Amino acid sequence: MAESSKPKEQVVTPWTAQAGEGEQKIDYDRLIVQFGSNRIDESLLQRIEAVTKKPAHHFLRRKVFFSHRDVPDILTAYEQNKPFFLYTGRGPSSESMHLGHLIPFLFTKYLQDVFDVPLVIQMTDDEKFMWKDLQLEEAHRLAYENAKDIIACGFDVNKTFIFSNLDYMSCCPAFYRNVLRIQKCVTCNQAKGIFGFQDTDCIGKMAFPAVQAAPSFSSTFPDIFGDNKDIRCLIPCAIDQDPYFRMTRDVAPRLGFPKPALLHSTFFPALQGPQSKMSASDPTSSIFLTDTPSQIKNKINKYAFSGGRDTKEEHEKYGGNTEVDVSYQYLTFFMEDDERLAEIKQVRLEGTAQY
Ligand code: TYM
Repeated sequence: MAESSKPKEQVVTPWTAQAGEGEQKIDYDRLIVQFGSNRIDESLLQRIEAVTKKPAHHFLRRKVFFSHRDVPDILTAYEQNKPFFLYTGRGPSSESMHLGHLIPFLFTKYLQDVFDVPLVIQMTDDEKFMWKDLQLEEAHRLAYENAKDIIACGFDVNKTFIFSNLDYMSCCPAFYRNVLRIQKCVTCNQAKGIFGFQDTDCIGKMAFPAVQAAPSFSSTFPDIFGDNKDIRCLIPCAIDQDPYFRMTRDVAPRLGFPKPALLHSTFFPALQGPQSKMSASDPTSSIFLTDTPSQIKNKINKYAFSGGRDTKEEHEKYGGNTEVDVSYQYLTFFMEDDERLAEIKQVRLEGTAQY
């Protein structure tokens, strides 16, 4: 599907995130049912707090991270002093990352801090070469540019490995071997079913998901994990990446590897509103990490969808709608102070805010 077309039904894939026709925002409850994942409920939140002995991150409290696969198993492993590692990634398609890309990385930083575990970060410059109108050299350059944004999150330098696929695949035989093992387990029909590939797509696209799957297995990184093939992996990402890891979890037992666990986030909304995600493919939807304060102000003033009503009278009568007001939604991601956020919400709801 073209990224700009408006679907009748909600569509969430690694390439598109769009609410259904007539719907104001993406329905995440529906995604949990559709993808067969699990809700992060109050009891899991309490368990995370008990195991980490820290208050839950505000992304958890506010359900920005709302869904998971097998997280209780990771917590049990941690309690039993069994090792696990974190894995996340970025497909470098723009000069710098946008605020949405930052969400999984900020959360991964929290996870590394509380669990004190190794982290691998895959830069899929090969993926972006295949999908975008980019030369290999340019995709590789963008991977290094975006790595700077990632490094700025402050990960533990002694426990973090950031790699470009273009570099690492050519110097680590273990990586390519696992890619091949995974590729042999997935048929073209399955790949078409999971990812919607068409016969007109180039064969490189069909082969790529195995490359994103391989870092879920500790044997892909002999320099970090030695001969240990069964260290469990936890992957924080937005829910759009789940299809890759449904495939990974499907093949893992056949290869004798543990299934990766996942933590899924909602999308940081596009400037135009929570019907779609902030996306580098549409620069008017995005605030980039390199934008200056005045550029950000201009973008917010020009594009940000407001939860205000159609007329001043209606707004005074019904108040604003914080569920779709982009400025308020952005604060829910970045304003850590719950009390201040509640005050701002009240002002919006009372309709006294300036729209
Ligand atoms: P990419 O570069 O599209 O996105 C990088 C990470 O950011 C998440 N993301 C968002 N999160 C919240 N709000 C948004 N608007 C938003 N847009 C993107 C993505 O879910 C992702 O976690 N193929 C991947 C790269 C990759 C990867 C991984 C990602 C390789 N291995 C392992 C996660 C985990 C990609 O192109 O991501």
